[in-house]
This record gives sequence, structure tokens and C-alpha cells, in this order.
Amino acid sequence: MKLNIGVLAGDGIGPEIVAQAQKAIDAVAAKFNHEVVYTPALVGATAIDQVGDPYPEETHEICMKSDAVLFGAIGDPKFDNDPKAKVRPEQGLLAMRKKLGLYANIRPVTTFPSLLEKSPLRLDIVEGADLVVVRELTGGIYFGDKGRSEDLTKAFDNCVYTKEEIERILKLAFSYAEKRDKRLTVVDKANVLATSRLWREIAQAMEPEYKDIEVDYMFVDNAAMQLIQWPKKFDVMVTENMFGDIISDEASVITGSLGLLPSASVGVHTSVFEPIHGSYPQAAGKDIANPVATILSAAMLLESLDLLEEAKAIREAVNKSLEAGVVTEDISKEKAYKTSEVGDWIAKEIAG
Ligand code: IPM
Ligand code: MN
Repeated sequence: MKLNIGVLAGDGIGPEIVAQAQKAIDAVAAKFNHEVVYTPALVGATAIDQVGDPYPEETHEICMKSDAVLFGAIGDPKFDNDPKAKVRPEQGLLAMRKKLGLYANIRPVTTFPSLLEKSPLRLDIVEGADLVVVRELTGGIYFGDKGRSEDLTKAFDNCVYTKEEIERILKLAFSYAEKRDKRLTVVDKANVLATSRLWREIAQAMEPEYKDIEVDYMFVDNAAMQLIQWPKKFDVMVTENMFGDIISDEASVITGSLGLLPSASVGVHTSVFEPIHGSYPQAAGKDIANPVATILSAAMLLESLDLLEEAKAIREAVNKSLEAGVVTEDISKEKAYKTSEVGDWIAKEIAG
């Protein structure tokens, strides 16, 4: 099979970690006889610096033509400290999501037994936790009308959802639940928000189509609390854009594996695969960042193209690297490997 992969390495540690994921994909391609064509493109602060636009048209065209996109990270502190900055790297991310129709962000949260002691929670709480957060990504308050009054003393952000948008994401969440433990939690704020009430109404109307799925509804504040008290209670959580932003960050630290967790943004035109962590600018160029989340994102990418054996080969090699202690300094201070060494080890393990 021929795979066309757009490569948007982005900022900070992006280029280093994406390079390791490419090594894993190359190893898989050699083993399973696939041809891979990578097309690099600019995004984020790097794109602002070079062409003045965080998601240039050329990058968009490359994504549209790709079977899937491998994404590193974006963000640069020089923009965070400048509240008046006209263009920000984050705008590139939002533009990409909207233009590619990336309506769902999928974040699986799994435990890695050898790392459980890194969790801020007690072992008995996290051991065996295994959940997926499905976040709506192109609607809600992120994309509603926003602005300021003329005298600048008032600001607003509208939260809007349509039936189609809600049905689409719920359908995807139900299908994840069907493949997993058949439990779905719809997270909302239906006691206060009109959009949440519409979400709940639509989810309830869909329930009869999925009789084997146990559905429950939880207000987001309560869900945030229960998620750290009883993470094992959850299988698939589905929620709107901003709640999902917050809940998925919370979920990602539960298992102590922040540097290891991948994500997929499922789209209408193509899908984008990226680690859940950010651009970690302090580590840029030092060859110390953990590449595993990006390598596992490559596994999700292959899965999305139905290359299940190939994805499994990556996951198994990653598990072996963790068991063998071939890990970066965030995981082991005593014997830390470099980013590139971990990438080489995993690629070699895949090759067999
Ligand atoms: C994320 C990020 C983005 C978001 C920011 C950078 C705009 O936090 O991907 O979760 O809020 O969606
Ligand atoms: Mn976020």
C-alpha cells in the first residue's frame, strides 16, 4: 500500500519527536511492504516566523491530499507573554481543525504497569483504569461569535451547537463504546446551559439505537471530581469542546503517563494524529523529550487506515522499550536515554 502522510512537526520539541515516529513508521513500512511518502509542511510559531501565517494555505493543501497527518506540537512562549500579539500559533491549530473538519478528538487514557507509581493518585485508584475521552472539536464556545463592546469594557463568547454536530460526535462515541466496555458517559452542564440540554435530548433520543450500551449523564463539575476519585468507573466519556479540553487534560495525568499518551483528531477530509502534550520549549533541540506519545500516535494513524497488524507492531515495540527501561529522563532520572536513542531502539525492535 502507498501511504501519503503529511508531516506537520511544528514548534519546540515537535521536530525531534515527529522524527522518531517517522522512524517507527519506516520500520513498519519496510517490514510489511508499504511505500510511505512524507510531505512536510509548516504550522504554528514556525509558520508565523517564516510566512506570517500559523496555518498557511499550502499546508492546508498538503493536509487535504494526505491519507493522514502526523502532527508534533505548536506553541512558543514568546507569544504567550504578548497579550497584544495579532497572530498566535494556537490560531493555526484552530484553523486547521475547522478547515479539515476535525470534529472529534479522541484521547485514550491507558495505564502502563511499569509507570503506575508516577501517577499522582494512589495505586489502587489507577490500576486498571482504561478510558477514552471523545471531545467535540469544531463547535461550541471556541468557534461561536466572540468580541468586545466598543468601549472595550464588555466581552463575549457565544456557545452554539447544531443537532447535526451533536449527532455526529455522539455517533462516534457510541461506536467507540460498542468496541470497548459498552459504557458511555455524556458529560454536560444541562442544569444551566441550553446547548447542554440539546446534547442530552439528542443523546437520549439515540439511546434506543444502541441498546447494548449503558449510557449515563453527568454534569461536568461532578465528572471532573469523579474522574480522579474513581477513574475506573469510566469507559467512554463524550463531551463538548471546552469541557473536553479540560476533562481530557485532567484524564491524561491520572495514569502518570503524560509523555506517553497519543491522540487522534478525526476529520471529514483527513485525520490528524498527535501527542497530547505540548511543545515543551525548554527542551527544544536537547534530544531529551519523550517521543513515545508521538510514536503511539503513529500507531493510531496506521489503525485509522486499517493497518492493524502494523499498529500492533508499534505498540508491542513501545511496550518492550518501557519494560527494558529504554526511556527518557521524564521517566527515569537514573538511566535516561536520549529522544533519538528511544526512537532508534523502537524502530530496531519493530524490524526484529
Ligand atoms: C488542545 C489545546 C488547544 C485547545 C489550544 C492550544 C487552543 O489546549 O489541543 O487541547 O484548547 O483546544
Ligand atoms: Mn487543551
